[in-house]
Amino acid sequence: MPLTISPSSTSIISQRPNLGFFKNRGTGPAFIKLPKSNNNGNVGSGGLVIFASNGANNRQALEVVFEPFEEVKKELLLVPTEPNASLARQKYTDESVAAINEQINVEYNVSYVYHAMYAYFDRDNVALKGFAKFFKESSAEERGHAEKLMEYQSKRGGRVKLQSMLMPCSEFDHAEKGDALHAMELALALEKLNNEKLLNLHKTANENNDVHLVDYIESEYLNEQVESIRKISEYVAQLRRIGPGHGVWHFDQMLLNDTAGVAA
Ligand SMILES: [Fe+2]
Ligand SMILES: [Fe+2]
Repeated sequence: MPLTISPSSTSIISQRPNLGFFKNRGTGPAFIKLPKSNNNGNVGSGGLVIFASNGANNRQALEVVFEPFEEVKKELLLVPTEPNASLARQKYTDESVAAINEQINVEYNVSYVYHAMYAYFDRDNVALKGFAKFFKESSAEERGHAEKLMEYQSKRGGRVKLQSMLMPCSEFDHAEKGDALHAMELALALEKLNNEKLLNLHKTANENNDVHLVDYIESEYLNEQVESIRKISEYVAQLRRIGPGHGVWHFDQMLLNDTAGVAA
């Protein structure tokens, strides 16, 4: 007898332990008891019984019984009792926790370098206020990324561990390129590096079957990162076109007056 699945059919039928599979002969009902769940809890823990029968009108139905109190027993044993353990943490591996902490550090480091660039362009003898604004906003944005990852870490029951940062360079002038192009090329390299690190984090999430983390990185980070790389690439191309002279002042004015949010 072919079985048809009726997802809306949730009515409870009596529990029949150790039914196994019975081939239906004649008009009687057929039952399938699903195997016990594995440790990942993906399959019902002996609590799912599929039922099929020939109704009076030959209608075939399949019903699934979910036994919450049976299934929850093993979950109850897993609720931590130690005061230092997270209660919310579920399917969030140590590897994912470490990868998030590493990405927090990457975002902070990029933020730190952008902050150094802001300080450079804000000097009285450099005075490219548009560049200073751009890098200040970019620094704040990268720090925002770090903070958002910290919130995520806590939400999933991981522990935030901040790591050390290296002292960034404080001089950005370059003999041939000039400071504006040199700093923007450095920014492009940083954004690409950040993208690499995000892809590593995504890989770790995939390897650990962490669907939520995969979705979070894809929806909150990857697209924005690609947009940043695209925007800074255009800035580098334009700065190469205008050279290190007078045109840089106009470019700086464009960054200063751009109200459409220019941070990378
Ligand atoms: Fe970022
Ligand atoms: Fe960025």
